[in-house]
Amino acid sequence: MDLQELLEMGKQERDRQDLKQTRIRCCTAAGCLSSGAAAVKNSLEAAVTVANLEDSVEVCGVGCLRFCGRGALVEIDPHRILYEEVTAENAPAIISALSGEERNQEGLPVQGDRQHPFFALQMPIVLENSGKIDPERIEEYIAVGGYQQLHHVLMEMTPQEVIEEIAKSGLRGRGGGGYPTGLKWATVAKMPKGQKYVVCNADEGDPGAFMDRSVLESDPHRILEGMAIAGYAVGANYGYIYVRAEYPLAIKRLEKAIQQAKKYELLGSQIFDSTFDFKIDIRVGAGAFVCGEETALIASIEGKRGNPRPRPPYPAESGLWECPTLINNVETLANIVPIIREGSDWYASIGTENSKGTKVFALTGKVCNTGLIEVPMGTTVRQIVEEMGGGVPDSGTVKAVQTGGPSGGCIPAEFFDTPVDYESLLKLGTMMGSGGAIVMDENTSMVEIARFYMEFCRGESCGKCVPCRAGTVQLYELLSKFLDQQATHADLEKLKALSYMVKETSLCGLGISAPNPILSTLRYFSEEYEELIQQDSLNGKVTV
Ligand SMILES: Cc1cc2nc3c(=O)[nH]c(=O)nc-3n(C[C@H](O)[C@H](O)[C@H](O)COP(=O)(O)O)c2cc1C
Ligand code: SF4
Ligand code: FES
Repeated sequence: MDLQELLEMGKQERDRQDLKQTRIRCCTAAGCLSSGAAAVKNSLEAAVTVANLEDSVEVCGVGCLRFCGRGALVEIDPHRILYEEVTAENAPAIISALSGEERNQEGLPVQGDRQHPFFALQMPIVLENSGKIDPERIEEYIAVGGYQQLHHVLMEMTPQEVIEEIAKSGLRGRGGGGYPTGLKWATVAKMPKGQKYVVCNADEGDPGAFMDRSVLESDPHRILEGMAIAGYAVGANYGYIYVRAEYPLAIKRLEKAIQQAKKYELLGSQIFDSTFDFKIDIRVGAGAFVCGEETALIASIEGKRGNPRPRPPYPAESGLWECPTLINNVETLANIVPIIREGSDWYASIGTENSKGTKVFALTGKVCNTGLIEVPMGTTVRQIVEEMGGGVPDSGTVKAVQTGGPSGGCIPAEFFDTPVDYESLLKLGTMMGSGGAIVMDENTSMVEIARFYMEFCRGESCGKCVPCRAGTVQLYELLSKFLDQQATHADLEKLKALSYMVKETSLCGLGISAPNPILSTLRYFSEEYEELIQQDSLNGKVTV
């Protein structure tokens, strides 16, 4: 395919869509499918046929419309009417309401408010196509400009220029660590010519996190295009997407997207008649959290047990089969196309001094509005939890929000005016993580929360090193002792000492960060630990 053919294909698709007056967009991402979205879509198609509206109305499946907690969601274009909690039974009423005549509200689902801060405070860059295009049709991706940035870099930029553009944008890795993406690309590029790889880390194992899954389900070609641009920049001709088996829809859509891109020669040999070849394969992981850690992920792709290994050497120098390997998170790669398209200055103008662009969060827990939000870096926690999330249901009180999953910590309500960026979250004793944001209300036991995450880490520890293998078990048991009200003050000291020991002596990030939820809850909610200490101990009769 050449540029002319690409542009023509996009135009044909836009013309096809323009023939219809109305486009009914049904969310068919995993969240809404679990709320009956497939039946909703079928019923809407049937109702369109019954009303004889096939010539003017199109019902199409799209990716996540972001208000996942109110699924199944349906949006009507061009008026952007959003219907929430739609069932198959609502279909005839939705279709009859299209006529614009005096609307009979009977049978119509609740209408969402697009002006609500949940949407109004968002800035969709990563999610710009999510909920708009059918992720299973490459034509729709091409109709919104898809693969034009790949053409642009291949024809008009040197690999060095691409890396400089990414570096200048200030993009940092969204997989948790926040490592500067341009610097990582430059390291791989500098390695001697030869076999190199690009890996997309789609392992996403944090409890409560579903940002990457949603991006893959909603806009898979965006990731393929981002990976191909990365491959060109660093000199790699092969890419792997490592995705967990628990994400079958993401895998299906990725497979379909790869086939389509290959069919139109947007992946494969001599892309756009250049000298650049790039192929992508999927590797399905069995769902171990530790396999998201980059060295374990490499071992898993190589067919070995997914155990981490010490670094250095870093994967950028010696990764897959000891070749230089660029590993980036799904959301990091989803940022590449807009940065190339709009320019690094534009991207760097969004966010805070050291954290540029936007961040996608999966907002869940004790909060009225749950779903996916994409906000500029620097948005305050209060805006996210109280304005966008609408606070706690039934006028409850927010106690804290947990970010960074099992590796992170909690932000108590008194710090809600903190702007969300990498550094300020670290200062609070938590981390950005991959983007889970779980809201907790006044009835939440923070010791219970700490034990929940420790139970998770205990189960997910690969067992390779003693501090993590044994330490997570001991920490879990100590926390249980508190919750059983059997703990003493000496146990509190032991909990702290063991947490620091596990942090300082574990081999990989899983063990290093596993005690974070304990340390964070101890920092802000130590009274909850004290309250659970057995009365004898409180009276000074400490037994060790
Ligand atoms: C226990 C553990 C689990 C991780 N899981 C993920 C994951 O699911 N997805 C991810 O992108 N990074 C994960 N990471 C971070 C990766 O090791 C790596 O830093 C990241 O994929 C690099 O991409 P980025 O620079 O784009 O952030 C994990 C790290 C640890 C220690
Ligand atoms: S820290 Fe835990 S997960 Fe990491 S290598 Fe050691 S035992 Fe395995
Ligand atoms: S899954 Fe449907 S709105 Fe997110």
